[in-house]
Amino acid sequence: MIATMTAPEPVIGRILLSQDQIRDRLSELAADIDAHYTGRDLVLLGVLKGAMMVVADLARMLNHEGVEIDWITVSSYGDSTTSSGVIRMLKEPDLDLDGRNVLVIDDITDSGLTLSWLVANLRSRSVGSVEVLTLLRKPDLVKVEVPIRYVGFDIAPDFVAGYGMDYAQRYRNLPYIAVLEY
Ligand code: IMP
Ligand code: MG
Repeated sequence: MIATMTAPEPVIGRILLSQDQIRDRLSELAADIDAHYTGRDLVLLGVLKGAMMVVADLARMLNHEGVEIDWITVSSYGDSTTSSGVIRMLKEPDLDLDGRNVLVIDDITDSGLTLSWLVANLRSRSVGSVEVLTLLRKPDLVKVEVPIRYVGFDIAPDFVAGYGMDYAQRYRNLPYIAVLEY
């Protein structure tokens, strides 16, 4: 018989951010966004799949009456927990973003590679303005500086899951954000 070594599966550990903490911070950001985009059009451009919860909750907190919502998909990690650094757009926006004010919404910024690539990609088109919101940021891991206008929380460089974020496609449905433990 051949013995195979398999790495232990990580499990959900301590709760880093509760539903209440996430909601309270998003409502602060929603007020800032309402103020910034008063009298201007606004397209929320969520990065699938991780940003689904942030977009759904944040969108409902905005008072802005002309909000449109669109989604993109970019390739990323696969099932591993470290970034490959190679990024492609797997799903383009459906809306015509020409001259529009776009707020890119992502779940988490780790190295910053995804968002810096995305911002450069959008700016190379004739988008009116591009700003970025990330719910979480890991400042210790940032390799590329991305000007992020709205940051939910700066966190330690742990791998987290829940509230849209996955490990191997699991845990996205958790209503809170937890640290994965190995
Ligand atoms: P970056 O390009 O290194 O900034 O990676 C950003 C993307 O990697 C995020 O949009 C997430 O999809 C994923 N990611 C980074 N860190 C985590 C984590 O701790 N949990 C879940 N996904 C993560
Ligand atoms: Mg993501």
